[in-house]
Amino acid sequence: MAMKEAAATETQKIANPRGLPIAKHFAVDPADNVTGYKSYHAGSFDFRRDGYFAYIATPKGFHTLPVDAFLRALMRDVAWGFFYGTVNFDQVFGTTNYYGEVDMFLGSTNEAYTSVGREFIERFKSNELMDIFKQMVSDWTIEGYDPFAAPMETGAPWGVKNGDNDKAVGRTRVTARRMVGLKGDTPVRTDQNGFPVNRMFDDVKQDAPEVYPEPGFEHEVSAFNLFAYLSRSDVTWNPSVCSVVKDSLFCPTSEEYILPVEHGNDRCEWFVTLSDEIIWNIKDGKTGRPKAVVRQKAGDCACMPADIRHQGFSAKRAMLLVWENGSPKVPDLIREGKAPTVAVSF
Ligand code: PHB
Ligand code: FE
Repeated sequence: MAMKEAAATETQKIANPRGLPIAKHFAVDPADNVTGYKSYHAGSFDFRRDGYFAYIATPKGFHTLPVDAFLRALMRDVAWGFFYGTVNFDQVFGTTNYYGEVDMFLGSTNEAYTSVGREFIERFKSNELMDIFKQMVSDWTIEGYDPFAAPMETGAPWGVKNGDNDKAVGRTRVTARRMVGLKGDTPVRTDQNGFPVNRMFDDVKQDAPEVYPEPGFEHEVSAFNLFAYLSRSDVTWNPSVCSVVKDSLFCPTSEEYILPVEHGNDRCEWFVTLSDEIIWNIKDGKTGRPKAVVRQKAGDCACMPADIRHQGFSAKRAMLLVWENGSPKVPDLIREGKAPTVAVSF
């Protein structure tokens, strides 16, 4: 995920704008006789899958998603520890991260639901909901299907329970402490350590920068070829922390097909397209009303405001630099009106 290891929540009060109590009920039902999949319960949310669909039942509504889309989104929510702000799996279901606690909702970021009071929200301890989500993504992902992969690079998720793919869903994310390639930090990718160049990046040069530090500075100077690094990513839409300077996190990623979530950020977020082209659909964060379409070509830079949601589309695998301010103070400052929702005012 695009986040430092420890979000500094210990010293900070956890925000709870809706004043919700913590839901405590969790259960897992045994595998269904017909489909072979377990069903999962968190608070009043019930989750079930069959050959094609994921079903979410709540006291106020029932929702259905194609199971491939559900698993891709669930995988991101799990891998990113609920990410920054809101992860909309689609226009109805999702989670909002309060860093230590999390709201799970049906319809609360969709004006059609909220305007008639049809939304349903419950709050959980993050680690307790995460435990259920991890079990669900493991059980519902079958052999040959990789929810991190582009559709052309994976098998299908359809049908009855048939094995698993814990190797894929259990991938540990890259979170550099300082920078990729430093001694003791996350390594550069090579053929030897299991990261061959992706088929869509076989034109990317694989040379490495030459570094000549002054004597005595050998352990303080380092460089790596970020394009070569990204050309070897085995996953899509999965920003990893590649360099850290205080709260400034560079989280590059390789993008093919569709960002599996509509991300409603709780802070401003910069996007620099490093190669190829990505189209972003921008909607209002609260209502889902369309706001803009941004077509970013290689070299283009955009800053996503803190009050929108965005979803990217990339027909040809592209490289994207996501630049985050990882400070845990930013969401409260924005909620309290003490920090702007845009990085630049013209
Ligand atoms: C984002 O929500 O900002 C985001 C998430 C995953 C990506 C790129 C951007 O791969
Ligand atoms: Fe985002």
